[in-house]
Amino acid sequence: MRIISLKTDLDQVISEYRKSGKRIGFVPTMGALHQGHVSLVEASRKQADVTVCSIFVNPTQFNDKNDLLRYPRTPEQDILMLEQAGCDVLFMPPVEEVYPVPDTRVFDFGYLDKILDGAARPGHFNGVGQVVSILFSMVKPDVAFFGQKDYQQVMIIRELVRQLNLPVEIVPCPILREPDGLAMSSRNTLLSAEERKVAAHVPEFMQKAAQIYHEQDIDQARSYIQEAVSSQALMRLDYYMICDRNTLREIEHKNQPAISLIAVFVGKIRLIDNLFLD
Ligand code: PAJ
Repeated sequence: MRIISLKTDLDQVISEYRKSGKRIGFVPTMGALHQGHVSLVEASRKQADVTVCSIFVNPTQFNDKNDLLRYPRTPEQDILMLEQAGCDVLFMPPVEEVYPVPDTRVFDFGYLDKILDGAARPGHFNGVGQVVSILFSMVKPDVAFFGQKDYQQVMIIRELVRQLNLPVEIVPCPILREPDGLAMSSRNTLLSAEERKVAAHVPEFMQKAAQIYHEQDIDQARSYIQEAVSSQALMRLDYYMICDRNTLREIEHKNQPAISLIAVFVGKIRLIDNLFLD
């Protein structure tokens, strides 16, 4: 695996790949890697000739300074995991390589940026749009892989690609979970042992709410989540919504393809998860 930190070095490698007609797969990450990230690298290896992964903790997508400061960083371990996963190129740029001048672009993602994490984390998706468009212009991937754990992010990226008319295929990949059901996340490592135990209730409550949604309706599912979360001293609900999977508008009829989405604080750590309601 080649490890590259400068854009000029990346340019050289990418132009060699392009000259030899290789299909480039790209997995952007912020590091502190886990099996969920590895599964994206594996998906890329199946669908592309070469796989480029980036590790860059993007300051512009953190609306909370403390969240940025405490974001976990484990570069040595990440390098080993990517090498084992068969990644070809790891791009780990310093901030100045990605933002030689501040990025002042403001995207208009419309409704998509006004709900859920868009509403709860103002500016977050604009920062994601900035960094992903910059990374796409550097890596020039044919195909890029994103986890459905960040379901709204996948929709934002698709919208970004549409608006900027970028020649890249976006492939959504399934959520990987810990044995107790908790969705894998870099932020899980920030939980204390007690918080980690409590966090396992998130997928459990989501499953139960899904059952209630099927047997009864949206309102009962929502009330259940509110009560279940508030019964846990260490948990605080940020949002829970049942939406149409294609539009993220709140569901109106039960025959629409539905997804439930949750954001919950466990202690100081904010976790998100989602579940298709089939
Ligand atoms: P990060 O949180 O590091 O996630 C990188 C990719 O891994 C994202 O596409 C995310 O959805 C995926 N991922 C995270 N947890 C997963 C899980 N349990 N199962 C499957 N996939 C999972 O998302 C970002 O970084 C950033 O916003 C980024 C797109 C890199 C832009 O800075």
